[in-house]
Amino acid sequence: MAQARLITRRRLLGLALTTGVAGGAVALRDTRWVEVTRHREVLPGLEPGHPPIRVVQLSDLHRGPFVDEGYLRRVADLAMEMKGDLLLVTGDFVSRNWNYAASCARALSVLSAPMGVWGVWGNNDNYGGRVPKIREAMDGIGLRVLVNESVALEPGLHLAGFDDHDTAGMDPVRAFSRVPKGAATIVMGHNPLEFGGMRLHGGVMFSGHTHGGQVAIWPVPALVAADTQGRVSGWYSRPGARLLVNRGIGTVNLPFRMFSRPEVAVVDLVADEEPPGGQGLMEKDRGTR
Ligand SMILES: [Fe+2]
Repeated sequence: MAQARLITRRRLLGLALTTGVAGGAVALRDTRWVEVTRHREVLPGLEPGHPPIRVVQLSDLHRGPFVDEGYLRRVADLAMEMKGDLLLVTGDFVSRNWNYAASCARALSVLSAPMGVWGVWGNNDNYGGRVPKIREAMDGIGLRVLVNESVALEPGLHLAGFDDHDTAGMDPVRAFSRVPKGAATIVMGHNPLEFGGMRLHGGVMFSGHTHGGQVAIWPVPALVAADTQGRVSGWYSRPGARLLVNRGIGTVNLPFRMFSRPEVAVVDLVADEEPPGGQGLMEKDRGTR
């Protein structure tokens, strides 16, 4: 009897060790194994014949104790290789600590694009009223953060940014107040919950926040989905609008990722060239993910 118990204990110990080693190997593989994802989407309102607009999106950098400046610089260099017309950083520049803002800005200082480098705040940037310090750092590298406001990138093409849903006053009415009805509009909002704001104006929205679950092992993605109306990563739709939830670059709470690789998203936004009454790309893609 005693021998049987000893064998069972050894087996359990062996199983725990094997699981631990396998888990460690996955974490080592996935935490900084950046994936470039490529997409093509119709931007409603974009004039037919307009050349595609390439958006390169980074999200959730989380410069902090777990995410060093060198890694973020390599990601920024990779983003530049994608030759975007427009570069977006959708929040969580730091992990709840503005002391890392200058370092994050140094890493991102290589970013530039013909239509500019833009961002929105994430919940981690807003905690404890730390935004002014981060804004100062981002202003210094020419990265402009939109807070419930918009800019015209060119005649008929607008970029809007929401403030964070959880930690600040997300206000889509203000954000869209200077965007003409029906104009082609690209939107940034850190939290996928902010997709609700797109009921006021169509367009293509970019968010992050979820880290794709970060440790995408049950029940983590289900818990994240419960907080974001089921939007964890990839594309989502509502009438007249599309949302890309980016898995982000850094980590939060835990220093590793599993089965949810860091992501640089490259999205070519195109005009709907279908004849009137035809079914555009947006319709074809609706609800597929
Ligand atoms: Fe985040």
